[in-house]
Amino acid sequence: MAVLEIKDLHVTREGKEILKGVNLKTGPGEIHAIMGPNGSGKSTLAYTLLGHPKYKVTQGDILIDGESILGLKADERAKKGLFLGFQYPTEVSGVGFSHFLRTAYNSLSKALEGDEREVFITVREFQKYLKENLAKVGLKEEFLSRYLNEGFSGGEKKRAEVLQMAVLRPKIAILDEPDSGLDIDAIQSVAKAISQVSGKNATTIIITHYARILKYLDKLDFVHVFADGKIMKTGDATLADKLEKEGYEWVTKQKPNQI
Ligand SMILES: Nc1ncnc2c1ncn2[C@@H]1O[C@H](COP(=O)(O)OP(=O)(O)OP(=O)(O)O)[C@@H](O)[C@H]1O
Ligand SMILES: [Mg+2]
Repeated sequence: MAVLEIKDLHVTREGKEILKGVNLKTGPGEIHAIMGPNGSGKSTLAYTLLGHPKYKVTQGDILIDGESILGLKADERAKKGLFLGFQYPTEVSGVGFSHFLRTAYNSLSKALEGDEREVFITVREFQKYLKENLAKVGLKEEFLSRYLNEGFSGGEKKRAEVLQMAVLRPKIAILDEPDSGLDIDAIQSVAKAISQVSGKNATTIIITHYARILKYLDKLDFVHVFADGKIMKTGDATLADKLEKEGYEWVTKQKPNQI
């Protein structure tokens, strides 16, 4: 269980201010969606949460369970239970997909000791666990013997990101456009997989441009509208439909209403 708090977060990249005072608090078991125009800073927020070195926090704080994580590197943040599914996953040649997943799972399990995580002693046991999860995201077993994302199609890369989330079972997962590039059937199966792995105690934040993926989720607690580097409005699932019908202009003209 983990509570994430983002307080008045200001972030620059190469001297340009991109995040201009983000406030957000998420609790265990909650599913949040972030929607907003291109270039408004959604991916910047995701990268900053995971500690990408090119993004500089100039003001504000990010806390997990009341403790600031600003001084932690990306791998240390991952060991606190944070996970990022990338908008543009990188191809990593030479790193086998199943080897990568096993190494990541084991180091996370060590870090989260006492959190009732399964321990897979043998490679065979772990492969069985992987196969169950592959089925959830609709990827074939042959992907396990390929290099991480190398030559994966756009949709396969997105499924592979959700597979990582399903396998690693982070406490707080941020998925940056998990639906972009997916075919219509895949959107539904990826949404189902997200719902299944979100579980009781984990938090999921989904960045998306479309209400479609959100409709297939078992539940959705909050929808946030992100514009010009901050959250301008927060509502429930109905806000996603309204945005899809009416666009963002009516929100961006309002004064920020933050939670
Ligand atoms: N190195 C950089 N120098 C200057 N501006 C940058 C740099 N990197 C990113 N930006 C700008 O930061 C802004 C926010 O980008 P970001 O990728 O966070 O947007 P986004 O909300 O995720 O958009 P999208 O919906 O298109 O994915 C953009 O205007 C982008 O051009
Ligand atoms: Mg983005």
